[in-house]
Amino acid sequence: MNEDIRDILIEEEQIQKRVKELGKQLSEEYAGKRVIIVCLLKGAVYFACDLSRAMSIPVRMEFMVASSYGDGTTTSGSVAVRLDVHDDIAGMHVLLVDDIIDTGLTFERVKTLLETKKPASIKTVAMCDKKDRRQNGLDADYVGFTIPDEFVVGYGLDYAGDYRNLPYIGVLKPNVYART
Ligand code: PRP
Repeated sequence: MNEDIRDILIEEEQIQKRVKELGKQLSEEYAGKRVIIVCLLKGAVYFACDLSRAMSIPVRMEFMVASSYGDGTTTSGSVAVRLDVHDDIAGMHVLLVDDIIDTGLTFERVKTLLETKKPASIKTVAMCDKKDRRQNGLDADYVGFTIPDEFVVGYGLDYAGDYRNLPYIGVLKPNVYART
């Protein structure tokens, strides 16, 4: 285990099992539909790639950048869209995929923007859900794991850009953010 991790919250095997379950469920529910995954960079990249490969139906991929956190451990409260989708999503069924839903502001902002592009539908998929921190009452349509309000990293989740490539989700030791 990485020396900056206090403990592992979700093991790699649990993540991969849950991703396969979600992929199977989505493949059944979206069979016969034109599906596009919109991956919110950077955090969702690992989850979106694994999820798309766990799906047995054709899926397109698009990418967006929406940032809220800066380098701190709490949200700044405002969400800036820095990269929009490239291709036309009109008439397509969008799965908006993120590594975590926290305040819910990112999903709200991005969903509102995507709705103006006239997709057939938009549903949200979050690997982790910090339910206790929600500010807008928005729930993700599909959730991998509901987690407590602790500072977690790994499987796409970062602290100041680091730890994303850990294959598990772990709680960061508090002395790591005390250093900065
Ligand atoms: C993180 C995370 C989500 C968002 C969730 O993104 O990846 O996109 O915050 O928080 P919210 O529900 O409170 O809006 P971040 O802005 O840190 O960018 P990143 O994906 O590049 O890490």
